[in-house]
Amino acid sequence: MANSAGEWDRFDPDAYYELNYSALRADDRQILEGVRAYFATFAAAAAAERPLSGLDVGSGSNLYPTLSMLPWCEQITLVEFGASNVVWLEKEIKAYGATWDEFWDVLCQEPVYGAVEDPRRLLAERATVSQGSVFELDRARWDIGTMFFVACSISEKEDEFRRASECFLNALVPGAPFAMAYMEKSEGYRVRDVAFPAVSLDMTQIQDSLDGLATDLKVNRIVVAELLREGYEAMVLVCGRTRREPVPGARIPD
Ligand SMILES: C[S@@+](CC[C@H](N)C(=O)[O-])C[C@H]1O[C@@H](n2cnc3c(N)ncnc32)[C@H](O)[C@@H]1O
Repeated sequence: MANSAGEWDRFDPDAYYELNYSALRADDRQILEGVRAYFATFAAAAAAERPLSGLDVGSGSNLYPTLSMLPWCEQITLVEFGASNVVWLEKEIKAYGATWDEFWDVLCQEPVYGAVEDPRRLLAERATVSQGSVFELDRARWDIGTMFFVACSISEKEDEFRRASECFLNALVPGAPFAMAYMEKSEGYRVRDVAFPAVSLDMTQIQDSLDGLATDLKVNRIVVAELLREGYEAMVLVCGRTRREPVPGARIPD
């Protein structure tokens, strides 16, 4: 199934939230810890020059990628394709629900997050939701970005997976810190009664998709005792910074 064939307007944000984010899972905790550490170094360095504008793509009903960028951003755009998710996000960013506090508390173990006095109010002031596609993002517009479980989970086609990654990275300015999360070897997923597509990817394919496009890469393969569902093997977090131009033949460090 290509991305264009997905029933994205039938994506049920409440059901997806209930399954994935109504309580903090051990794997999401590890992802938060990885992003927190990376952004505390690289977002802080970028923000030393000017306040940042942030981008989260394919937000679904997940606010924690956006929260991870909050301390450094004067503005954050959440780009989501599905109409029902857009409605859910517009409501949620105005005064986010109490369960996100648990996610925020993990981020707060890094002092720069703890110094944010009222993250709920700040998010309401700084975040905007925009309905759109990863394939049609403006180029070089945002200073920092997150894209979680999107490139791997919006199509069965490997070329669309690669294009989604490239479009996301191209939407960021050169040197921008970013975090991307993936499902490894995903066979697709259901939200209530609707099936959505995924590409079955291994670690090599994930790393190859960033070849020449990113630098300062940090890759975490996350396996926990209790998987979220059947039909995948691990979650993968990749943090990095965008490169100005693809470097021919560049190798990603081990
Ligand atoms: C598996 S969900 C991930 C949601 C969320 N980022 C998370 O971390 O759980 C995939 C998301 O991508 C969105 N999506 C599908 N096609 C898209 C496209 N072309 N551009 C942007 N988002 C898209 C879906 O509506 C859905 O919200």
